[in-house]
Amino acid sequence: MRVLSGIQPSGKLHLGNYLGAIRQHIELQDEDEALYFIANYHSLTTVHDAERMRQLTADVALDYLALGLDPQKAMLFRQSDIPEVTELAWILSTVTGRGLLERAHSYKDKVAKGISASMGLMCYPLLMAADILIYRSNLVPVGKDQVQHIEMTQDMAGYFNNTFGCEVLVRPEPRLNAAQVVPGIDGQKMSKSYGNTIDLFDTAKKTRKRIMGIKTDSTPVEDTKNPETCNVFALLKLMAEPAELEEWDSRYRKGGMGYGEAKGRVAELFEETFGPARERRDKLATDPDYVEDILVTAAAKVRVMAEEVMHDVREACGLVTAKKVQR
Ligand code: ADP
Ligand code: TRP
Repeated sequence: MRVLSGIQPSGKLHLGNYLGAIRQHIELQDEDEALYFIANYHSLTTVHDAERMRQLTADVALDYLALGLDPQKAMLFRQSDIPEVTELAWILSTVTGRGLLERAHSYKDKVAKGISASMGLMCYPLLMAADILIYRSNLVPVGKDQVQHIEMTQDMAGYFNNTFGCEVLVRPEPRLNAAQVVPGIDGQKMSKSYGNTIDLFDTAKKTRKRIMGIKTDSTPVEDTKNPETCNVFALLKLMAEPAELEEWDSRYRKGGMGYGEAKGRVAELFEETFGPARERRDKLATDPDYVEDILVTAAAKVRVMAEEVMHDVREACGLVTAKKVQR
């Protein structure tokens, strides 16, 4: 089974990204062949500043490594180190109807948020499909918002194979991340565009302050509280062990517990996981050559896979003659 996913370097990673996506990516490195890339071509749809792009890209690499990605087990590389994906995206665009792209929720949402509708933004799902199909990936762990893109990828694989009468491209399956919606400090979906995030690599002090600021209702300490509607409990649910969670559940319902105490526990649990990761990150940041080497080595390996598939793709659509083909 080949697992693949991409993460856009478009801002600081937050707890929603971790619980919704990264945690699962890292767990999968022990089970399957795992390929993860930093989707810098994709973030070119929103980041138009070279220095910022370089910084954000380097940050994602540091974040993943600090959070436990093991370069011996999983491949971590930059999307742009495999430029063949843009060639495949073009080829896919020639067999894909415009209507399919116009129906993409994510495109419509981004335009509604005021992001200008460049051709790149519109063609984003073509590039994403190319990312997946170029490695013949089987499983794509993503958040709910990305499932439609995987379904489009399945369609595009079918269009290509049917058009050229071949079985070159392999149909991938989405795999939904466990934590579908992590709430932010205001109770809405945690997202960098809502300014409600708990960032993974802020200082301990700043993070604690952020957690203590999670919005709760004004039920007095002595009253009983409903864990189901509480933003703090929602985070405990994602971070605490089941036995501890049960205890919190009954303390909420019994009354006599203040939200401050529950928030304090979230801050502690956060620190248990991300405190050591912060230290690893600081250490890794002092050795950019080591990190660069990991990215370049992985890219060299996956590029061989991509070239094999592109060979078959070019041959299937007559871009090379069978005689000239060199494997
Ligand atoms: P943001 O909404 O902050 O811009 P992205 O869209 O870059 O985050 O998210 C990258 C991935 O992280 C998403 O595809 C999704 O899987 C996951 N993710 C982001 N926010 C959340 C959240 N609040 N809950 C669960 N998963 C999330
Ligand atoms: N669009 C994804 C996101 O915003 C990132 C991404 C790009 C991706 N290419 C991919 C994810 C291929 C999975 C597979 O989260």
